[in-house]
Amino acid sequence: MKRLAVALLAFVAGVAPALAADASPQVKRGEFIVKSGGCNDCHTPLRMGPNGPEPDMTRMLSGHPETPALPPPPPLTDAWNNVGSASGTAFAGPWGVSFARNLTPDEHTGIGIWSEEMFMKTIRSGRHWGVSRPILPPMPWFNYAKMTDEDLKSVYAYLRSIKPVKNQVPDAILAGQ
Ligand code: HEC
Repeated sequence: MKRLAVALLAFVAGVAPALAADASPQVKRGEFIVKSGGCNDCHTPLRMGPNGPEPDMTRMLSGHPETPALPPPPPLTDAWNNVGSASGTAFAGPWGVSFARNLTPDEHTGIGIWSEEMFMKTIRSGRHWGVSRPILPPMPWFNYAKMTDEDLKSVYAYLRSIKPVKNQVPDAILAGQ
């Protein structure tokens, strides 16, 4: 009986979509906001599929991949002043080079050790970890800052519920440094 339960669990874990069916209403609300709010567009790397680039959901929301390392961006001009990487997760522009961060609950490389308060402060203040340097483009924190406390708490709860992915995103390169 126990073996059957284990096998069943393994099966469910293998085929279940990102979200367990019994997820709390708060987590479900967070999933809705993350999926409709476009977080995957920048925080989930793209891979080439039969119909062109598509989000690699095995690495959902794990940010810019640590490997392979990217070469420096091409020269930018006044007319074409920002570019994105093929992965859809790295962005060069007048600000320097920014890399979408790992939003999965991995403790060392993601938001595993972030408190709910820290997460809310980050989105509301537009500061790295809620206290440090300004968050760089194209992260549209100023739009998300308009969410209610309840919404932001739901986003945090959902992000804590997804699969942790170990991926150390490179540090941003600030212009002029
Ligand atoms: C248009 C691209 C884009 C979208 C859409 C986007 N992000 Fe980001 N995000 C970024 C980039 C790039 C960074 C890294 C910025 C930096 O290093 O300053 C970032 C950083 C972050 C950070 C880390 C801030 C820190 O302290 O370093 C959090 C948290 C975050 N995003 C959450 C979200 C959530 C939640 C959503 C959806 C509701 C979202 N992002 C949508 C591009 C995006």
